[in-house]
Amino acid sequence: MNQGNTSDREGLLTGDATSADLEGTIPAVYDIPVLGASFADGVALAAEDSTAYLEVLPSETRVDQNVIAELPGRNPANVVMAGAHLDSVIEGPGINDNGTGSAAILETALMMARSHPENTIRFGWWAAEEQGLVGSAAYVEGLSPAERERIALYMNYDMVGSPNYVQTVYDANESTFEAPVEVPAGSTAVEAVYESYYTMVGEPYDDSEFSGRSDYEAFIANGIPSSGLFTGAEGLKTEEQAAIWGGTAGEQFDPCYHLECDTLRNYDAHALDVNSDLIAFAMLTFAYSTEPVNG
Ligand code: PHE
Ligand code: ZN
Ligand code: ZN
Ligand code: ZN
Repeated sequence: MNQGNTSDREGLLTGDATSADLEGTIPAVYDIPVLGASFADGVALAAEDSTAYLEVLPSETRVDQNVIAELPGRNPANVVMAGAHLDSVIEGPGINDNGTGSAAILETALMMARSHPENTIRFGWWAAEEQGLVGSAAYVEGLSPAERERIALYMNYDMVGSPNYVQTVYDANESTFEAPVEVPAGSTAVEAVYESYYTMVGEPYDDSEFSGRSDYEAFIANGIPSSGLFTGAEGLKTEEQAAIWGGTAGEQFDPCYHLECDTLRNYDAHALDVNSDLIAFAMLTFAYSTEPVNG
């Protein structure tokens, strides 16, 4: 696939990019309950009935931005969207979480920059996911009902190259959303595209929990069909999973999850390669028709 020339890239990625200011509050220091003699080790500053002082710094407010890029299709009323969070935790650089998802959608955007799709395609690089899904929630909640209505589906990519990976698809049947939120029916058609691709290229896959632990939450809560890919975070790989995908049983899918060591070495090249191709495949598929999702 041709990657497009520089001016086309600029057309997609800067000419049409918009951003909105977001405000989030980061608690700098948490209140530690003072419970007489039951201090934890290292917090035993004072004996029972004596007085302890805690210095509590004021919480900090910062401004952050989502980056949104859109390529208009022949049909402006049908928008296909993919997103990945661009921030990391304060503790580390966040290469697997979530440089992997961010890079994969950037590559898809560059690849499609010179295409002329039927549907309008839109990419979101979310801010402040780690502070509580702040950027994606602000984006979805900031849309008018008419703008929300135009979004046919949303695909989420958060951690798609874990070093001790499993390849999983968010599964609508494993939803843990609480009533009255229900996973929109079209979500299963997005899952089906991922699953048929893995089957086609001979890669094993499994379902994963649709828990609201990433940026798809606001889309689901607003009735927009969604799914996504996930290669595992702090969970431990089972013997059964190691037999299927290789790697090390008993170790975390990402041993550097939310740590300083989530650096440029912290990803699996095979998982990232397969998933990057799939992320492009899914966007290309829905760029031409969302019929299976929206009927
Ligand atoms: N959202 C989590 C994070 O950024 C990762 C995660 C994604 C966990 C999907 C579970 C399911 O840390
Ligand atoms: Zn994270
Ligand atoms: Zn993440
Ligand atoms: Zn499934």
